[in-house]
Amino acid sequence: MGLELNAAAISLLLILLTSTTTINAQTKVFDVRNYGAKPNDDITPAVTEAWKDACAYPGSSKVVVPAAVYWVGTVKFLGPCKGPIEFNVLGSINSPGDPNYFNGDLWIGFERIDHLTMSGTGDFDGQGGTAWGRSNCSKNSYCIHLPISLRFDFVTNSIVRDITSYDSKQFHINVFGCQNLTFDHVTIRAPENSPNTDGIHIGHSTKINVINSKISTGDDCVSLGDGSQDIFIQGVNCGPGHGISIGSLGKYQNEQPVSKVRVIGCTLSNTKTGVRIKTWPDSYPGSASDIHFENIIMENVDTPILIDQEYCPWNQCKSQNPSKVKISNVSYKNIRGTSRTKVAVKIVCSKALPCQNVELTGIDLKYNGKDGPATSRCVNVNPIIGGHQNPPACTIKTLN
Ligand SMILES: *[C@@H]1O[C@H](CO)[C@@H](O)[C@H](O)[C@H]1NC(C)=O
Ligand SMILES: *[C@@H]1O[C@H](CO)[C@@H](O)[C@H](O)[C@H]1NC(C)=O
Ligand SMILES: *[C@@H]1O[C@H](CO)[C@@H](O)[C@H](O)[C@H]1NC(C)=O
Repeated sequence: MGLELNAAAISLLLILLTSTTTINAQTKVFDVRNYGAKPNDDITPAVTEAWKDACAYPGSSKVVVPAAVYWVGTVKFLGPCKGPIEFNVLGSINSPGDPNYFNGDLWIGFERIDHLTMSGTGDFDGQGGTAWGRSNCSKNSYCIHLPISLRFDFVTNSIVRDITSYDSKQFHINVFGCQNLTFDHVTIRAPENSPNTDGIHIGHSTKINVINSKISTGDDCVSLGDGSQDIFIQGVNCGPGHGISIGSLGKYQNEQPVSKVRVIGCTLSNTKTGVRIKTWPDSYPGSASDIHFENIIMENVDTPILIDQEYCPWNQCKSQNPSKVKISNVSYKNIRGTSRTKVAVKIVCSKALPCQNVELTGIDLKYNGKDGPATSRCVNVNPIIGGHQNPPACTIKTLN
């Protein structure tokens, strides 16, 4: 039996659509000003109370932070909430500058929330300048105790859009235990020399999208730790910083696999690496597979394509023992632009577990320097080659 879309059906449809709009229009607004928030003040209590009321509201709710400058201390926005909840930021939210104010690695956290929307043209300013001066990341413990600006823990079916994060003391955004979370039109900005200010770090999470965003930092643009699965990165503009990174993997016991990663249509400008997979030598077992990079533009990038299974900053490991992280099913398609160092493509795999099924198709990377053309280096890998190859694939090849 067919359904004819006649005038009556169309008007019924319109009535249905109109009533849906009415329901959405009934979103209850919780404006922080009604909780005592004043410009240039510390609004931690106001925003905490507004969140509590919004979260307890049995319907669609919205916390609004209007356009003005505010200060907020450590705060955790907890769910579960009774309905979908929006956190709408139009103002500028500043962190306490002094790292000693914090007694944990959190500035603002969102935890155990389903159907969260974070929106608005406002920004979060981590006031990181005071912390960076003192940081000594070579000790590897000071940096990780600094607060992360925005943490999303166990957040599901949610979207973060349009907001800006400036000058975090440590990572800008950390995603942990989340499922179906999208970052769209997010801007992240910190100076090139600010240590450990990763843009978005994802771990133990599934179906995370980072799209249409601009990330300039002193560390990784987007980094994927263990347990990152079904990750989609598209239309992201990175630089300066360290590029898009998977890993480092293999440092800890019982790490979860990284799998199904798509990085499509991104631009990396003036970054240390372009797209990189890094694992520790002398490591615990792990795996990274089904990882695909496509249509990526590299502008003046130190090492545009890098797999580094001998990643060992500050000589912390006995690097003669090979990595036990298995890398397989990785492709690089249509990667073009310029390299700041001669070895534009560097695929250094583990002697114990050579990389499998690595594909290079349509590579065009020119070396910016004057001492000859770009080269590529392959260790413990036999890549599948297709299309144009500049540099020629595996100019230098070592199989242990
Ligand atoms: C950082 O720590 C290392 C190792 O403890 C030390 O040698 C170095 O002097 C420290 N640097 C600064 C700037 O504090
Ligand atoms: C993922 O989250 C978005 C945003 O809330 C939602 O519209 C969509 O239905 C969710 N997808 C699934 C499969 O639940
Ligand atoms: C790699 O791809 C092959 C062929 O598509 C597939 O059979 C294999 O299961 C994949 N390996 C992993 C670890 O995903």
